[in-house]
Amino acid sequence: MSDYLIDVAERGNLTEYSYVLSKVRDLQRGEEVVLLTQEDPRLLMDAVTLELRNAIYWDVLESGPEYWRVRIRRREDVEASDLVDLLTRDHVRIDRLFATALHHTNAGDMEAALPVFGEYAKRLRMHVEAENEIVVPVLDLPRSARGDDPTSIMLREHDEIVEHTVMIEEMVAEGMDDAGMIAPFFAIISAQLAKHEWREENNLFPHWMAILKKDNSLANELFPKVRRLVVFDPVHK
Ligand SMILES: [Fe+2]
Ligand SMILES: [Fe+2]
Repeated sequence: MSDYLIDVAERGNLTEYSYVLSKVRDLQRGEEVVLLTQEDPRLLMDAVTLELRNAIYWDVLESGPEYWRVRIRRREDVEASDLVDLLTRDHVRIDRLFATALHHTNAGDMEAALPVFGEYAKRLRMHVEAENEIVVPVLDLPRSARGDDPTSIMLREHDEIVEHTVMIEEMVAEGMDDAGMIAPFFAIISAQLAKHEWREENNLFPHWMAILKKDNSLANELFPKVRRLVVFDPVHK
């Protein structure tokens, strides 16, 4: 049962893209809307989804020729559908944990920052293990001797991010948990994480997707293995 209907015929002077974007931008968890249109909406929905950094998930309930009906939900309300979806969602979760720890650190509240930082470090290691140990050996793309191919860049950046994370863990273990001392290391990781995830999602994941789309058995083999490491809470409705 949908919460409301977006009828493209009611868009007025707006383009379809602006109209749909304005309607789904603030979609809340647990909400479900249905888009009604007379044109094939797939390109439009891909563009809107990209603009919202994959925050929404859509599926076609009814195909034309007369009317198309598309159901739109928050991505967290739907189980991950493939390996890349799973890893991309985990990026968002790791980002949020890190941003929260950074926020508390910048406010000088290490008591609040450290448990969140601990959770970030745990999720980061599991994510890196999934990508390095499970995915790379199976989806091995061509490597260059210079090490500037997407896989080599990813492996190198993982080492750097984990190394800086360990530095903070060691400082905390040695009692150097003063916010002012730790904040610069947080700033370094923050920049590294953002760049790394962007590169992965844009330069590497499309190659992984292409291989998995062609080879279903490979997709079925990898997904549950990565799923065991990149664990999410059950989907709430
Ligand atoms: Fe990743
Ligand atoms: Fe990564």
